[in-house]
Amino acid sequence: MSFRPATAADHVEDVSPGSGALPPRAWYPASDAASLSLNGDWRFRLSPTADAEDDSFAEPGYDAGGWAKVSVPGHWVLQGHGAPVYTNHLYPFPVDPPRVPTENPTGDHLRFFDLPDGWDPADGGTVLRFDGVESCARVWLNGTDIGEFKGSRLPHEFAVGHLLKPAGNVLAVRVHQWSAGSYLEDQDQWWLPGIFRDVTLLHRPAGSVLDFFVHASYDHVTGAGTLRVDSDVAGRVTVPELGIDIATGEPATVPVEAWTAETPRLYDGVLATEGERVPLRIGFRTVELADGLIKVNGRPVLFKGVNRHEWHPERGRALDLETMRADVLLMKRHNINAVRTSHYPPHPAFLDLCDEFGLWVIDECDLETHGFTEQAWRDNPVDDDRWTPALLDRAARMVERDKNHPSVVIWSLGNEAGTGRGLTAMSEWIHGRDASRLVHYEGDIDCRDTDVYSRMYADHAEVERIGQGLDGGTHRRRQLPFILCEYGHAMGNGPGGLADYQQIFESYDRLQGGFIWEWIDHGIKDDRYEYAYGGDFGEELHDGNFVCDGLVFPDRRPSPGLVEYKKVIEPVRIEGDGATVRVTNKQDFADLSALDFEWSYQVGGETVESGSLGVPALAAGESAEVKLPEPPVVTGGGETQWTVRALLAADTGWGPRGHVVAWGQVPVSGRQLPSFAASGGPVVSGDGLIALGPAVFDARSGALRSIGSVPVTGLRLDVWRATTDNDDGAAWQSDIRYGALWRKFGLHRMRHRLDAVEAVGDTLTVRTRVAPAAWEFGLVTVYRWTTDGSRLRLTVSVTPDGDWTVPLPRLGVRFGLSAADRVRWFGGGPGEAYPDTRAASVLGRWQSTVDDLQTPYVRPQENGARADVRWAELGGLRIEGDPEFWFTARRWTTEQLDAAAHRTDLTPGDTVWVNLDHGQHGIGSQSCGPGVLPPYRLLAGPVEFSFVFADVG
Ligand code: GAL
Repeated sequence: MSFRPATAADHVEDVSPGSGALPPRAWYPASDAASLSLNGDWRFRLSPTADAEDDSFAEPGYDAGGWAKVSVPGHWVLQGHGAPVYTNHLYPFPVDPPRVPTENPTGDHLRFFDLPDGWDPADGGTVLRFDGVESCARVWLNGTDIGEFKGSRLPHEFAVGHLLKPAGNVLAVRVHQWSAGSYLEDQDQWWLPGIFRDVTLLHRPAGSVLDFFVHASYDHVTGAGTLRVDSDVAGRVTVPELGIDIATGEPATVPVEAWTAETPRLYDGVLATEGERVPLRIGFRTVELADGLIKVNGRPVLFKGVNRHEWHPERGRALDLETMRADVLLMKRHNINAVRTSHYPPHPAFLDLCDEFGLWVIDECDLETHGFTEQAWRDNPVDDDRWTPALLDRAARMVERDKNHPSVVIWSLGNEAGTGRGLTAMSEWIHGRDASRLVHYEGDIDCRDTDVYSRMYADHAEVERIGQGLDGGTHRRRQLPFILCEYGHAMGNGPGGLADYQQIFESYDRLQGGFIWEWIDHGIKDDRYEYAYGGDFGEELHDGNFVCDGLVFPDRRPSPGLVEYKKVIEPVRIEGDGATVRVTNKQDFADLSALDFEWSYQVGGETVESGSLGVPALAAGESAEVKLPEPPVVTGGGETQWTVRALLAADTGWGPRGHVVAWGQVPVSGRQLPSFAASGGPVVSGDGLIALGPAVFDARSGALRSIGSVPVTGLRLDVWRATTDNDDGAAWQSDIRYGALWRKFGLHRMRHRLDAVEAVGDTLTVRTRVAPAAWEFGLVTVYRWTTDGSRLRLTVSVTPDGDWTVPLPRLGVRFGLSAADRVRWFGGGPGEAYPDTRAASVLGRWQSTVDDLQTPYVRPQENGARADVRWAELGGLRIEGDPEFWFTARRWTTEQLDAAAHRTDLTPGDTVWVNLDHGQHGIGSQSCGPGVLPPYRLLAGPVEFSFVFADVG
């Protein structure tokens, strides 16, 4: 006898896209036809396998009174049923396509509804639309099986009018977590089953709109726009503002203002058929590949983009409109001009927002088969004809849904799916259906199927070679423009090196910018950890905090990486020499008329005067030298500088008047170093102490005990930092990964050997050698202390000894203060900065609490350094640096920070630990990308630096 489990769910493992659904068509939010949202509470039952329960639940009259409830849209694993799973590219099930595991969590969903008054199901038809269900669903209405589908982040519609009753309708949906479709959805993200986008019933009155395609091009030579709306159901198209009133299929050419991401001009129109009026928002623009460049309206564009996954820390990929809007507004306020919808079409409302506020969009298909890389891409569905219908179905569902958005300028076939005939078929179909946009796919290294040469994480030197056209490649590829569809891996502290990339992008026409990986950390709100990441739900396979690699934290608070990116990609460059500033409009289309400029003048970091600066409304690409006013007369000397800022001149949809879009600082007179004349000297007293001016030391160890009334503990050389995700690097990175090397060489466990304490003349000298167990290299470190009577000066000399083969994480001193809360400083701020993430650091006077100096990375790591600090005050001490220093203060030690896995592992102690660093190693992007560029590496070498301490308490 043979036994095979019930086959009730055979469609689950069928490579076909599904059955029963209507052909894909354009998506639009609302028309005058009635609709009924079926979002809300649904009855829910979870089973461990696809066939544990029969389908009698779909029958009218079934009693689901004992079932749980879930919210739709939503993921059941985020609502207390089962748990999320995070893997980057490994399939969390055996790879045996199209088979899936017997353990296949299956969610039965039930929704009961009545039709609103006045909705006559007999008048025309009714369509039931699912905007997103992961990963496979079978649907019954009033007991009738209406079909099944896969393609999680794509819409599926069913004709249901004939099944509807005025009241007492039962919609039953059985959703399986795993299906053949899962093989096509191996994106680096949480696996989150459920009905996670809207479910809507759409009345389709007789003569209502079916599918339509808005063609709205712009001729940059004549300034004319041409509109033609092709519609399956004939009707009329009106655009009152343009005086357009035409039949569908008929073109009209009129003068228009073009749509661009910088000037997102939309015209309101209506498509009216006999049975329906559909509002249109029309943007006229023309996308083309010309002269080897991506051009819009005749001009090349430079993408300053981000990759956006849909994410909410409590609701996963079930986003509401406000969250989508928050993303768009945050992007616009941070000078971002482009989004790649990695790695699936977003909720359609997001694209409406991109049209409205202005973002270039690469709309990416819901396709990734990355896990096949583990078997050298054998059996990859994209190179297997049996799967091609599913791939074409996905391509069509994306293109048909989103084709009417002016913001969408490029279609992307998917991500990390290798290469194969299926992708070629998708590309051919898309090119045939929509010749008005370009096609992208990063995995197509020879650009056989694509119109853009695209790569991810290529290092600076390679990108420069590509810019110069020296990268070789096929003849076709050499004719194409280049983008980095992913770069600047924003995991934890970083990414570093963005300014260096931008400078390269701006140097070569062929380089049309890039998209930071990625927008948001996918941390899941969690009582145990604040935010959970991979492994926190006991997953058998997982990729840890690799899922937290965004420019914003899970709650959408900007991380320093976003602030840095905003500065690096600012649309106006402001540079100067003291008497004038050179202002350059770095936009591709808009002039500067939307901006006001203002100057301010700082002495010692404090603004003493400010005013407005007249800057001509430069056209895109133009520059002008603008004269600054006469500098204010200041007495007493001190460091002086100009700060010039570009601000929104009026409220816009995305930012208020006065919002700063760009800035520049121009030094005038340089810093005067702290004067200090040693007087007096160390006095050894009988009680084992040494007095030196305001300070007291331990006579045997040379350890500093106090400065005036301020107790100081543990002052000594420090080279360790809690390694960042970028220090640790990704396991597959071939470059040297310093995090591991530093640990191997014991830089986190340096020993401090005392060689001498010498109280001679005006100086107390403490000689040490700082070195790790097991290794012969070390740092000969000499602390020289002097006083001018009231203040204390420390000069630290460090001489490397032995064979140093790695850079240092940091180099400076650290010490503990028993009471410190507020910090004031003159230096870079307000946020953190490191050698290759310091573009956004503004020189000025800043203050903060110690707690607010911390950057709360989801996985704790080195953070919070302030750059270029001249002086800082905290805990009753004033510290002046010669030269400027990196300042860090926190309520835990570096060792505690290093050991923490989640924010909740850090508990403040009584001591505030202060680091004054002469040097910091850069950050780089090696968590998935190039490491720290040579200029930002902190190589061991002989150095000397000093600090003057004063008790100001
Ligand atoms: C890329 C991939 C992304 C993400 C990123 C690393 O290879 O396309 O989805 O995994 O690396 O975070």
